[in-house]
Amino acid sequence: MRLGTGGLTATPTTPSKETSPMSSVSVVGLGAMGTALADALLSAGHTTTVWNRTPAKADPLVERGALRAGSVAEAARAADVVVVCVLGYADVHALVDAAGDDLRGRVVVNLTNGSPDEARELADKVRTLGAEYLDGGIMAVPAMIGRPEALVLYSGSTPAFEAHREVLQVFGRAVYLGDDAGRAPLHDLAMLTGMYGMFAGFLQSAALVRSAGADVEEFTTALLVPWLHAMTSLLPRMAAQTAKGAYATTGSNLAMQVAAQDTLEGLGRAQGVSTELLAPLFDLMRRRVADGHGEEDLAGVVELLHRP
Ligand SMILES: NC(=O)c1ccc[n+]([C@@H]2O[C@H](COP(=O)([O-])OP(=O)(O)OC[C@H]3O[C@@H](n4cnc5c(N)ncnc54)[C@H](OP(=O)(O)O)[C@@H]3O)[C@@H](O)[C@H]2O)c1
Repeated sequence: MRLGTGGLTATPTTPSKETSPMSSVSVVGLGAMGTALADALLSAGHTTTVWNRTPAKADPLVERGALRAGSVAEAARAADVVVVCVLGYADVHALVDAAGDDLRGRVVVNLTNGSPDEARELADKVRTLGAEYLDGGIMAVPAMIGRPEALVLYSGSTPAFEAHREVLQVFGRAVYLGDDAGRAPLHDLAMLTGMYGMFAGFLQSAALVRSAGADVEEFTTALLVPWLHAMTSLLPRMAAQTAKGAYATTGSNLAMQVAAQDTLEGLGRAQGVSTELLAPLFDLMRRRVADGHGEEDLAGVVELLHRP
């Protein structure tokens, strides 16, 4: 499946009134995220049943109109859609085991973080119980749930996504990635990877600017954020190079960038700032040049990380 050319389905955050029958939904797991999900469902007018291992966490939601389930099985019986958001997959397996046959005919939407293989294994188990399975990756913090900036990636049962997209888009923009349950967690983890790379760059520049006694906040808002925005415009081209495995330079070849690394590392030493955060990337760039690809673009480094 290629994103943006068929399998990917994005839906707006606000459902249309004509096509949104109010579904009954249960939310199992009322930590920070589960509470935000249940809260958004209540605000959207869905009949919402809640269950949490520590029952007191349900109290504020019950005060807002949620129905309290006495067990996971009761939560499963109460709704068409059972949203599960707990700490890890071991917990989800225990909850699915506890609900057992009461999940028959339901759609389980698991928004607990995990790996693609864990998602596929759980999908098989849920299907065996006569239920449908959707895995979800939440690209948001609890305060963003229900707001347009929240994004949730889904994969798994296509009929389940189609039937319940109005409910799912209550949480934020709902993007469907296909019927392989492992797709959503894979894309979730890939997006987190991109985020941590950006944070690594920020931490290194903040340390440099602070070491010089300059104003890190002003540097960040006035200079770094606009610069990073400008640099993100290069990513689609780099992605196209990566897809083709062809890295002809567009003007900033790798050998030139590697030559500038000495200056970057020298500045770190002069300022007493460690360069260990960027060292692994710099080493890969040097290796790529040593392998004879100095006239190509930076995107070719991906060939040292993964060979198709
Ligand atoms: N918070 C975020 O910013 C964020 C963002 C994206 C994705 N997520 C994902 O969302 C999931 C939940 O995160 P959270 O922030 O809500 O965590 P949290 O505030 O720590 O809550 C954890 C929840 O899991 C429940 N739980 C833990 N072990 C359990 C078990 N063995 N049986 C039943 N319930 C159990 C807890 O129940 P008790 O109340 O009884 O302890 C609680 O409801 C995680 O997979 C997380 O990675 C979170």
